[in-house]
Amino acid sequence: MKETKGYQLTDDFLWGGAVAAHQLEGAWQEDGKGVSIADVMTAGSKDHPRIVTDTVQDDQVYPNHWGIDFYHQYPSDLKLFADMGLNCFRTSIAWTRIFPNGDETKPNEAGLKYYEDLFNECHKNGIQPVVTLSHFEMPYHLVKEYGGWRNKKLIEFFTRFAKVCFERFHNQVKYWMTFNEINNQTNWHDPHPLLQNSGLILEDDDNWEEAMFQAAHNEFLASAQAVTIAHQIDDQLQVGAMVAMCPIYPLTAKPEDILKAQRAMEYRYYFGDVQALGEYPQWLLNYWKRHDYEIDITDEDRQTLKSGVVDYIGFSYYMSFATEAKGQTNELTFDEDHDLVNNPYLEKSDWGWQIDPVGLRYGMNWMNDRWHKPQFIVENGFGAYDQLTDDGQVHDDYRIKYFHDHILSMEKAVVEDGIDLIGYTPWGHIDLISASTGEMKKRYGMIYVDQDDLGHGSGRRIKKDSFFWYQKVIASRGKDLSY
Ligand code: BG6
Repeated sequence: MKETKGYQLTDDFLWGGAVAAHQLEGAWQEDGKGVSIADVMTAGSKDHPRIVTDTVQDDQVYPNHWGIDFYHQYPSDLKLFADMGLNCFRTSIAWTRIFPNGDETKPNEAGLKYYEDLFNECHKNGIQPVVTLSHFEMPYHLVKEYGGWRNKKLIEFFTRFAKVCFERFHNQVKYWMTFNEINNQTNWHDPHPLLQNSGLILEDDDNWEEAMFQAAHNEFLASAQAVTIAHQIDDQLQVGAMVAMCPIYPLTAKPEDILKAQRAMEYRYYFGDVQALGEYPQWLLNYWKRHDYEIDITDEDRQTLKSGVVDYIGFSYYMSFATEAKGQTNELTFDEDHDLVNNPYLEKSDWGWQIDPVGLRYGMNWMNDRWHKPQFIVENGFGAYDQLTDDGQVHDDYRIKYFHDHILSMEKAVVEDGIDLIGYTPWGHIDLISASTGEMKKRYGMIYVDQDDLGHGSGRRIKKDSFFWYQKVIASRGKDLSY
């Protein structure tokens, strides 16, 4: 039976919405902005992956160039967010607006001014900004000239960018995150997420996994240094990790399946071990040895990781996975393209993402037991085809159901299980460009944006049914979940 009563959360709980600069700002060449990875990613679909072109080509479509024109429309959009009741708003700072190529020594003042104005406008609306520094939008120049995050020079470039942002915005932004879904790069398939996350373009003789471990290590160092810098600038700042939490269940109770799922979890979430505990797990050091991987890690690096552990764990949650051993014993190999199996107990979205509200509570407890840090759900949502009906509205009851079930699960994790949760920012509370497919029609929003995959349409914003439902949830601080 549907439970309509939730638990009332405390007054300081942050209820928000989440976006990323490249998926909604547009204005890809305005005010001195440089070219980011997202700017050279073409439109794709569920069946046709996005392609990265080396330059912008006339015969290709690049949806991130226009986003939903938030760059110009943010004052009216923020009013809508305030109307919904949000008290926080997660976005990212496009690195290329501040350092267009990434390797300059002086920041672009026009870019800084833009975010200063945006954050001021947030506060005017009673909304505190929550900011990710690197959300799949690093300068493309750093990919081409330096080989992305495999190059340790990027640590210097990133920490310069982070420092400039902390110095300029520390009075406006308390909660920060360094790298979005840093652990998604364990899932290698062309052209992303290894490229989206770490700017790696692989050569023929590259071992992708070794390259990934090295790039991730350099990101850990950059992240740890950023945490230290933030605290030196302002001890009130809170800097978090950001992982994509998709729990991996064993398909059956067969011991080999249980072990496989456990090892897969270790593999997919070692990122949190390093960022929250400040050290690599022993199994991974053994794994590198067995595979003859030479990851460049110095004693000084180990010290940096220890002294720069994150303040909290930000995470996205959309779905859970399931796996089975398929004859494997206990050697850890986990490959998301081949080792994931259908979970017969769960339904899927139109894009094949398994819907699992219980998994949210499971994942929160798993992370809490392991990392002992406050948590922040910075993405959760349901990508669906929405219909603008003849009455000029969008009746997205499927999305309301998804949110109902997930928010209830989250509240149980907080109130019954005692997890220290800072806030909840559902993904794409306003429709925007999908990161994986580049589509507009994969919509997550509670606010509809009248625009198609090619950027055509009036751009008009329309409140969906889920807008009014979430408004009511926030007004009751999570207690009234009825629909
Ligand atoms: C996360 C990302 O992977 O999921 C977002 O942090 C992304 O950038 C979101 O948009 C939903 O994924 P998609 O591919 O449906 O847009």
